[in-house]
Amino acid sequence: MALWQSRWTKSLNKDVEDFTFSLSFDKRLWKADLVGTCAHLLTLKKIGMFNSNEMQILRDAILDLNSSILTDPNIISDAEDIHTFIEEKLTQKIGDIGKKIHTGRSRNDQVAIDFRLYLREEVCEISSLLIEFRAVLLSLAKEHIDTVMPGYTHLQHAQPVTLGHYFLAYDSMFERDLERLGDLYKRLDVMPLGSGALAGSSIPLDREYTAKLLKFSKISQNSMDAVSDRDFALEFLFFASLTYLHLSRLAEEIILWSSQEFSFLTLPEEYSTGSSMMPHKRNPDVAELTRGKVGKIIGNLMDLFITLKALPLSYNRDIQEDKPLVFSAVDELKLAFKVWIGFLPKIEFHKENLKRFAEDSFLLATDLAEYLVLKGVPFREAHKIIGDLVRYCEEKKKNFNELKIDEWKTFSPFFEEDVFDLLSPEKSVNAKKTFGSPNPKINLKVLETKLSSLESLKEEWEERRKNLPTLEELLSKFL
Ligand code: ARG
Repeated sequence: MALWQSRWTKSLNKDVEDFTFSLSFDKRLWKADLVGTCAHLLTLKKIGMFNSNEMQILRDAILDLNSSILTDPNIISDAEDIHTFIEEKLTQKIGDIGKKIHTGRSRNDQVAIDFRLYLREEVCEISSLLIEFRAVLLSLAKEHIDTVMPGYTHLQHAQPVTLGHYFLAYDSMFERDLERLGDLYKRLDVMPLGSGALAGSSIPLDREYTAKLLKFSKISQNSMDAVSDRDFALEFLFFASLTYLHLSRLAEEIILWSSQEFSFLTLPEEYSTGSSMMPHKRNPDVAELTRGKVGKIIGNLMDLFITLKALPLSYNRDIQEDKPLVFSAVDELKLAFKVWIGFLPKIEFHKENLKRFAEDSFLLATDLAEYLVLKGVPFREAHKIIGDLVRYCEEKKKNFNELKIDEWKTFSPFFEEDVFDLLSPEKSVNAKKTFGSPNPKINLKVLETKLSSLESLKEEWEERRKNLPTLEELLSKFL
């Protein structure tokens, strides 16, 4: 019989039971449910609802249940949801005392606290993977700070850049993702218990005390909002979608660059797959699946948006559907980072090929226009002169660096011998003056700043993680 069935005369239709059942996925919240329950019991104890003898019995029962689940997680069964399971199990063990556990609490505020407790932990774990992945990107950026390669716009040769600049570009995306994670943490860090089903409780629960026990910095300010708010889950799904999308963009580069046409890199054997028919193949499946899986996470985000879009206040059963969406995004994102942290450093980049393509001298066209500008030619005029020069070279099937000084001078009297100092991709990147450009000297500074900020972010997140409550810590307060 379900917790709420006392006034029912008929038992629930079997199909409806299956339809409403959530234990299959919300069992993942069992630890969070125990932690939340402990904080709730301590809050009840504070107002005299339990004496110390009862607290001791509750403590033993919780410890016992905790170790039974750790020994065999499959014992979580035969209940509508995880909240019902935990309450029933404790009550079976301790009889009448168990009947007081749910005082001043509803599954509506219970699921809200469980979900927040769960996600807070996962977010901390994801932060450390993200930090580790950024460290990989930054070390590759350092290694390739002056490895020249062609830069693209529209996937057409544009201007010389460095491979280090590429990695720093990707790091900038993941840097924003980490910032977003810290930002959504603030909304996650709100304690809803004490909101009851929707209208709080006439039992004087000290909510600030509950929040302190569970290490939340704030308590929710409105009981109806508290039980129906899933903004934090949506924000997390947005974070997960965008972060995964950044991985997917990087994946696309790796796929292109591993093709025979680009030949910029060779994939590590332990991270690529062969073909069952074509013996010569080495396929970029890790990168392709990264590109492929992102759709599911973005789909989860859309799914939750649509679930929430027309919900009246306050709790509605629809939002039970939020959990599988978040769980799968958590799993996929963590797994992807674990794979990429191992994968990326093992890719072999072919510096000679990157350089050879960077030596397509037309990549220097913009630098040459700027050369004329620095000698006093208005930019639009310089653009035209270099345009004419490109056409001339194309007709003559020549590179810029095959032209003699007399040929240069027929296009503009401003061309002098020093133009030859410009004609290499290395010179091009080294001549860049603006902050944020691929000039290796500038990028070394960028790298230094990024490394030191990453170090402090790491400490910040470790601090958060250390601050999370443990079951043992809460149970020690029972006596
Ligand atoms: N399994 C439910 C959920 O995940 C718990 C809350 C049930 N509340 C209720 N009023 N039926 O949302």
